[in-house]
Amino acid sequence: RVPVPALLKRPVDLIVRPDHAHHARIPLPGDLFAPERHNSAGIEFGERTALDRLLADVKAATPDLKPVPDATPEQAGAAVVAARAGFAGWSRTPAWTRAAALEQAAHLLESRSAQYIALLQREGGKTLDDALSELREAADFCRYYAAQGRKLFGSETAMPGPTGESNTLALRGRGVFIAISPWNFPLAIFLGQVTAALMAGNSVVAKPAEQTPRIAREAVALLHEAGIPRSALHLVTGDGRIGAALTAQPDIAGVVFTGSTEVARHINRTLAAKDGPIVPLIAETGGINAMIADATALPEQVADDVVTSAFRSAGQRCSALRLLFVQEDVADRMIEMIAGAARELKIGDPADVATHVGPVIDNEAKQRLDAHIARMKSEARLHFAGTAPQGCFVAPHIFELRDAGQLTEEVFGPILHVVRYRAETLGHVLQAIERTAYALTLGVHSRIDDTIEAIIDRVQVGNIYVNRNMIGAVVGVQPFGGNGLSGTGPKAGGPHYLARFATEQTVTINT
Ligand code: SER
Repeated sequence: RVPVPALLKRPVDLIVRPDHAHHARIPLPGDLFAPERHNSAGIEFGERTALDRLLADVKAATPDLKPVPDATPEQAGAAVVAARAGFAGWSRTPAWTRAAALEQAAHLLESRSAQYIALLQREGGKTLDDALSELREAADFCRYYAAQGRKLFGSETAMPGPTGESNTLALRGRGVFIAISPWNFPLAIFLGQVTAALMAGNSVVAKPAEQTPRIAREAVALLHEAGIPRSALHLVTGDGRIGAALTAQPDIAGVVFTGSTEVARHINRTLAAKDGPIVPLIAETGGINAMIADATALPEQVADDVVTSAFRSAGQRCSALRLLFVQEDVADRMIEMIAGAARELKIGDPADVATHVGPVIDNEAKQRLDAHIARMKSEARLHFAGTAPQGCFVAPHIFELRDAGQLTEEVFGPILHVVRYRAETLGHVLQAIERTAYALTLGVHSRIDDTIEAIIDRVQVGNIYVNRNMIGAVVGVQPFGGNGLSGTGPKAGGPHYLARFATEQTVTINT
């Protein structure tokens, strides 16, 4: 039997399984261990579990790994022109038809999950539980935006008519949206951005991260198959220069971007410098995300949640924990327990079901992280260093800082920084969090309601998680996104997202 990795034993990305119609039918980690008694032909399997079947299907999958050629800036320009032509038809397609295509996309994703898992592992370095939760998130985005889209775009809103006129308000697509997505959720964020823009009636030119073009190619083919016209959705691949060429095009109506704050600023400057219409930017960027654990917190739970938040997905989540503030009175014990839990993690091949921490995305990322570890070794106290195999791996590390100010930038990998605080200096901790100027996620572990409430009241971060881990926001349940250096809002997977992709039109008729 395959050894069962600890992180797979429980639904790490869900505390409560939400029973929402839009929630994907992709197995939760907990479901994988249920014995699968029959196959579709009714033949007894005996002890075979859903996990056994899934692993066999993933092994047999043959994802398309052919290279995806980079586009030229001219091709990028041509894609925008073609998308502009496609806008006319797509924006007039009824919202119900647009929503049905998104639902069909979710269905196709689920029916080919093994194929997508294999590709997420091969191109994105995802472990099985990461690949599964990404698939669920991708299908959730499609269904959630379809459901929201029906409400928002399905009919116009009648406004009061005190003057005897008929007044209506309707939402309409803006035009061509450029969707620039990251490599860390190459399927879920890619599809989330693209389906939101399409549902709102825009045509789309999608530019995925240069590290994960194959997953994007599959996702675009899937959307076309699901009923999105080719003229309404175009894929343009390449590095940041292609992204820059797209955002500089004259005839675009909006940009949705997930990635670094630096690139978001660059896009903002490009859009601001252009003549013509004012083009909105929806940006979701990074964070120096903190967790506060006080002396009343449950140490075992803190250790578990810290390890999940800081090291799952090799720390390559924008929501991941970077800076842990631990109350002095319990700090030694807490750090020891966290290091003990981290010691149990297996780092290596993402296709091996026993692996908890897979590779980092590329050598450039590894070099950056290794350089940060080297700097921390001279500036901070090392509490834990895991061992990683040869290759593109970075082992989890835990460093204790004298002061939170020593961490000045987002470190996008499995490196946890710990700072001790005294109960009477909690105010300084909150100031330190505010001083980062990022505001994406925050974790709180405490059993004092007043402390929890005071922190929630004071800190203006996008997603606060109390007495649990701080990653894996669930679409339609925990709308995700930050403010300040962490992005513009609105929140992905939330009820206000789609409206920002649209224009509003009021029609007054003197009847
Ligand atoms: N949506 C992801 C999460 O919540 C983003 O990194 O973990």
